[in-house]
This record gives sequence, structure tokens and C-alpha cells, in this order.
Amino acid sequence: MTNSKAKPVLVFDSGIGGLTVLREARVLMPERHFTYVADDAGFPYGGWQEEALKERVVTLFDRLLTEHDPEVCVIACNTAFTLVGADLRAAFPNMRFVGTVPAIKPAAERTRSGLVSVLATPGTVKRAYTRDLIQSFASQCHVRLVGSENLARMAEAYIRGEALSDEAVKAEIDQCFIEKDGRKTDIVVLACTHYPFMANVFRRLAPWPVDWLDPAEAIARQARRLVPAIAEFIPDDGEDIAIFTSGAPDFSTRRLLQGFGLKVNRTGDDGKSSS
Ligand code: DGL
Repeated sequence: MTNSKAKPVLVFDSGIGGLTVLREARVLMPERHFTYVADDAGFPYGGWQEEALKERVVTLFDRLLTEHDPEVCVIACNTAFTLVGADLRAAFPNMRFVGTVPAIKPAAERTRSGLVSVLATPGTVKRAYTRDLIQSFASQCHVRLVGSENLARMAEAYIRGEALSDEAVKAEIDQCFIEKDGRKTDIVVLACTHYPFMANVFRRLAPWPVDWLDPAEAIARQARRLVPAIAEFIPDDGEDIAIFTSGAPDFSTRRLLQGFGLKVNRTGDDGKSSS
């Protein structure tokens, strides 16, 4: 197989959060091209009704798979995958989907205090999938679910260079920190792909040091396992592209994507793309 014929890896999120996964995936799959899709017309996913969001994402993938013919799809969004992962696999049995779910299992294995918090969107916190993960892998821990209404938006603003007040960020993360019987929370799971962009701010504002668990590398490793390495890798001039379902990402978002080496295409809700 020659490099030019290789299919791209599609990375999907509601916004720019999936870039935290894309950057790890690129390290592990240097010979692959990537198509990044942000459903920014539907952002944020955190507050959507479940049935409506399922329908939206499955319909969108119907078009994306036809248009981009990816090798594998990485759903770099906890809010989407915990709800729609099974439906996507059922609707498109010939496509392989790598999912993103709250890293509750590794957190339960690593915690020393037994107090773990999961910082996520309100959607992810509500999911049966998330409750099942806790029951299956963390029943011996005290797991606090913190559904933040505002952090995904704040992360988008932060990464575009807008100023955020420390108080506003603190108000979103404060509930993650628990003291109980002389023990303290020692792990906070970053269960929204937007949040690792703000990890340095979280560290600075945390009342005590904790491990902020980012699953991006583990997701990328899983994708690498599914994507065959191309034996004779010849670098080509092909581009990695980014698609926004709004068709109109703003200037700072386009600049951010360009900084990630992605050429911004515009795909409207009709699924048609143009540069
Ligand atoms: N980045 C998404 C996640 O991992 C969610 C952001 C949103 O609310 O749309 O959950």
C-alpha cells in the first residue's frame, strides 16, 4: 500500500476539545492523515436532550462517512460517545469507532485516598454509561460526579486567547475537592476532551495538588492498534483538514486550527464541504 492511498483517521468532537486527542494520535500515527470534525453548530453537547443528540450525531456520521471514507473514527468526546457509541456501531457496522469514556477505571486503580472526582459535562454525568463504569470498576471508591455547565465554553474561550477570571474557573472545579475522614480527593478525571487545555489553570487554582487524569494518550493508543501501520511510509504533500458543521468558524478558531497544521474546510449542516 502506498501512503497516498491511505485513508484518513477521522477525529470527531462537538468543538475543539478533540484536538487534545488529535495531538496524541499524530505522535503515534505519523504516517497517517487526519480529518478533524467539529460539530460546532451543535456545541455544546452537554445540555442536549439524549434522543435529539443521538439522532443528530448518527445523521451527521452518515454524511461524514460517505464524504470522507475514513479508516477509523475516533469519537473524541465523552458526551457524545457515552450516549451514541453503541448506536454508531450498530448503524455503521463496517466502520471501526474508537470511543472516549470517563477514565474511571484507571482512576480507581491509581487512587490512594479512595476519593476520586469526575469533572465532565452535565450530559456525561447523567449517562447510564458513566454510572455503569462506576459500578463496574470503582465500587470501592467514593466517586463524585461534577457536571460543569460552563467549562467547555470556557475552555473554547481560553484556547482562543480570551481572558477568564480565576473566580469563574474556581467555581466550576471547587466541587471536585472533598475531604473525608482525614482523606482528600487525589485524582480528578478530566472527562471532557476540552478540559485538558485548561489543566495548567486547574493546577494553579486547586486547593491541593491532585492528579488530573487525561485519557488522550490511551485513546490514541487504542486508535493506533486498529490502524495498520503503513510499511513503506513515504511522506507526501497531503493535508490534514478540519471541518466545522457551522460552516463558519471564527477567525481565532481558524487560526488555532491552522496552528495545529489543519487546513480549515467548511462543511455546513448539509454535509457539503468547501475550502
Ligand atoms: N468535548 C466534549 C466531551 O468530551 C464535550 C463538550 C460539549 O459540551 O460539547 O465531553
